[in-house]
Amino acid sequence: MPGDTPAFMPDRTSDVPIFEQICASFRGRIRSGALETGARLPATRALAGDLGVARATVVTAYEQLVAEGYLASRRGSGYTVCAMGEVELSPGASAAPAPKLSERGDLLLEAGQPDMRLFPHRAWAKCVARLCRTRPEDMLTGCGRFGHPELRQAIASHVRDWRGISARPEQVLVTSGATEALDICLHALASAEGRVGVEDPGFPPIRRFAEAQGRRTRDLALDAQGAEVPRLGDETDVVVLTPSHQYPLGGAMSAGRRQEFVRWAAQSQGWIIEDDYDSEFRYAGRPIPALAGVDGQGRTVYIGSFSKIFSNSLRMGYIVAPEGLIDRLAQAMRMKGARASAMPQAALAEFMQRGEFYRHLRRVRRTYAERHRTLIDRLRRDFADVGHVEDHHAGMQVVLHLRPDLCDQAITAAARAGGVGVESLSTYSRRSGAYNGVVLGACLNDLEEQAEALTRLRRAISSTG
Ligand SMILES: Cc1ncc(COP(=O)(O)O)c(C=O)c1O
Repeated sequence: MPGDTPAFMPDRTSDVPIFEQICASFRGRIRSGALETGARLPATRALAGDLGVARATVVTAYEQLVAEGYLASRRGSGYTVCAMGEVELSPGASAAPAPKLSERGDLLLEAGQPDMRLFPHRAWAKCVARLCRTRPEDMLTGCGRFGHPELRQAIASHVRDWRGISARPEQVLVTSGATEALDICLHALASAEGRVGVEDPGFPPIRRFAEAQGRRTRDLALDAQGAEVPRLGDETDVVVLTPSHQYPLGGAMSAGRRQEFVRWAAQSQGWIIEDDYDSEFRYAGRPIPALAGVDGQGRTVYIGSFSKIFSNSLRMGYIVAPEGLIDRLAQAMRMKGARASAMPQAALAEFMQRGEFYRHLRRVRRTYAERHRTLIDRLRRDFADVGHVEDHHAGMQVVLHLRPDLCDQAITAAARAGGVGVESLSTYSRRSGAYNGVVLGACLNDLEEQAEALTRLRRAISSTG
């Protein structure tokens, strides 16, 4: 039997726990083909004796490899090697140092991008492997038209605990990202006669979706309190807001302005679409509850996304519908043929229920808080001559408001040519000359990369001056 003789002896001087050393040894031999599919591993008692370790240590290691999908365990026949095609983990996913982004040719400081090097690859792979083994049918079926029941439940708990929204799982509709959710909500709520109020500056796809659906828009200018409230009777029947963290400027809407919007919606029978795309990232003070949580009239539809807090490539978002709108929004989803991929839903639900998701969220939040703080400090220290920065202690991007004689579009073009993917603030607004700034992503890069990116940005600014 290939597994009879241990191919290694544990290193007792190492900081790596012995059970993990056993795992690493078997992973390597399975991946290299030295242990073939179907091969039986040595009995736990025998291997423990050979290695001079407790049997429980070997059992822990084997069970870990079962959880990762390398081994199968069958009563009476011990542990056997799984086909690697069934579940494959990237070699050394946790051991290899993550590559520098600049080495991979990625742009630096791209706004709104999470750092996927922080993604909990190993824990996620374990979760997916466990599901593939125990409930494989859940990866493709078992997922209702509006989302996997367990994921809808997990999201309902998430918005209750993190956003102060009390909702039944049936109110949660899973979408392939917040962008799709916005499109669905506009389809369901905007009328041919009315107008859609959009923040200016704001998230560009919103206006495009409304216009593509033949809806007229109204710009809502921003002041220190947040977006302006439409006048009653001015045809606006839907507004799309980012109250927790205005996109792209970053401020939070004041409590007074929120109340004004809630009153406006009740009096005009209008709808509020709350785009809460990155509100979990608040770095100081108490979390700001979602508008949907304080709107007692049921006129606010809440949209959340997993793109920022978890993975931008899973394409997962959701709508939390007020009770009275569930059918209408569900109907709009059907009409648009909108549907999130079934594959990751059961795994994400399990990841949330087991607490892994929250461990990850807390970890990235700490990292992002440091990057955000450092970016603001560096901009204030080294770019004070070209503009100013406001610290909103939240979110994933920071705006450097430029001196009027500098041109944001020329600067961002030069910066992009130098590998720095910042955006120009003026392109988020329809009001010519109202905004002039550089939108920088605070989360994508570590502090060393950030310093390098700022040096290049400085060069780009000088080259346009
Ligand atoms: C304000 C705002 N809303 C929504 C989204 C879209 O999120 P998703 O990736 O879930 O579609 C973004 C993404 O950048 C955003 O900035």
